[in-house]
Amino acid sequence: MTPDYLVNFDTRQLPREHWDYVIIGSGIAGLYTALTAGRLGKRVVVITKRAIDDSNTDKAQGGIAAALDTTDSPDLHFTDTLAAGAGLCDRDAVKILVNEGPDRVRDLMDLGARFDRKDGELALTREGAHSRRRILHASGDATGAEIQGALTRRVREDGNVLVLENHMAVDLLVHQNACHGVLVYNRGTGKLKVYRGAAVIIATGGMGMLYEHNTNPEVATGDGIAMAFRAGAEIMDMEFIQFHPTVLSLPGAPRFLISEAVRGEGAYLINRYGDRFMPRYHELAELAPRDVVVRAILTELANTASEKVFLDLSHLPPDLVRERFPTIGRTCAGYGLDITRDPIPVAPAAHYLMGGIKTNLNGETSIRGLYACGEAACPGVHGANRLASNSLLDGLVFGRRIVECVKKYRLGRPEKDLEFSCSRLGRGQADHQGMLAGLRAVMNQYVGPVRTAQGLTRALSFFSRYDYLKKTEAAGPLEMEARNMLEVGGLIALFALIRTESRGSHYRLDFPETLDYWRKHIILKK
Ligand code: SIN
Repeated sequence: MTPDYLVNFDTRQLPREHWDYVIIGSGIAGLYTALTAGRLGKRVVVITKRAIDDSNTDKAQGGIAAALDTTDSPDLHFTDTLAAGAGLCDRDAVKILVNEGPDRVRDLMDLGARFDRKDGELALTREGAHSRRRILHASGDATGAEIQGALTRRVREDGNVLVLENHMAVDLLVHQNACHGVLVYNRGTGKLKVYRGAAVIIATGGMGMLYEHNTNPEVATGDGIAMAFRAGAEIMDMEFIQFHPTVLSLPGAPRFLISEAVRGEGAYLINRYGDRFMPRYHELAELAPRDVVVRAILTELANTASEKVFLDLSHLPPDLVRERFPTIGRTCAGYGLDITRDPIPVAPAAHYLMGGIKTNLNGETSIRGLYACGEAACPGVHGANRLASNSLLDGLVFGRRIVECVKKYRLGRPEKDLEFSCSRLGRGQADHQGMLAGLRAVMNQYVGPVRTAQGLTRALSFFSRYDYLKKTEAAGPLEMEARNMLEVGGLIALFALIRTESRGSHYRLDFPETLDYWRKHIILKK
């Protein structure tokens, strides 16, 4: 395979550093993995594109799911996860998730994360498709910020872990299917440097920024997946994009998540005529799996010629609403809405990628020495539709398993570094803003929650228009990001075209049935 890079470089001309672990990404998966390795005395560098807390983790509201209540069990959590996953979860991966999850959450508490309690006991809430109240939350609806804050504090105190903010991983250095390090761009100096690691871990999160309407931070541009694909790693399940059903929809306001926990506490979804519609679509009504709620909302929007439905909390005790959802309440108040009284206008938006870099149960990718965890990875734990609040847990459980796996091998520096270079790329500057506007329009129109062969083929022809870019260097970090987004968008459209059925979050208007034949994964590599 000819190596495919974003820029020209020659490692012999570049400064280099050697670490035990090179971790790319600073959300829950990256930081918890770093701390776990750091506790073993390993030297860890964390490369992160912007500030340490620019992550999806920091924005998470609802919480983290774990079977901690006496009325709950990992078996029940297993059954719920499998049911939401629409026949595509890897059963072994889910078993690991639900069985190791409670200990990982206890670890998180030992690291300083404080979850809400009632009468001294953990206060657990419910979300869609959970049969029990098993979601831990913090400061009501600011769970992610609490977790990110605790991990950030611990990482900053840890003498074994160095965090490099404003550093963007550009490409992996892979030879004969083994990863030797990462080429990194320092956004402050504009210089490249090589970080060699006995273990390189991608924990770069998702790709929500490919969609105009999404719940993700700006950094969520799919870099890790694009980089791994360019390097020849296997990629799996990219057709499965989870759209969150309830994202604030007001003209001029940024898309802001209205947590599923709001429905968990009893809020209703109503259409523009005040009709509570979810009981007509599913026996679990507002707590049906997310993909079901999203399609129900899209049907209501079409039937009522509207662009939004509403979340109604007015029947819930106002004190409960204020106590449980202070962040949502504050944000909505900024737009003149009193959530204890006024219906909140909402619409679906892109939220989470179930697919990603294929890994085994220890986070190993198809490239030796390259690991992945968190949203960028795909151990098959979420199947075709993730159960709410399983994602933070996934980052913890599989992050730790990577360190356990790496521990079994001797971490050492090879006698001689392999050198890498690329000089075949011409100069050229793409209009990355124009590219991104086009990409988001295409993703919105053809690669949203409802897809057809015709639309997906149009999307692919849009992406192929940019193939020529592969012969030129990316001009800077924004163009690197834009190219990564093109790479990932093309993969999503291709995977979605190949899967000629509807399952979980992937709905094909031209193939509306779920087919036994398709109870399998699509795995592609370059
Ligand atoms: C939410 O709070 O609704 C998001 C939780 C999740 O995506 O797991």
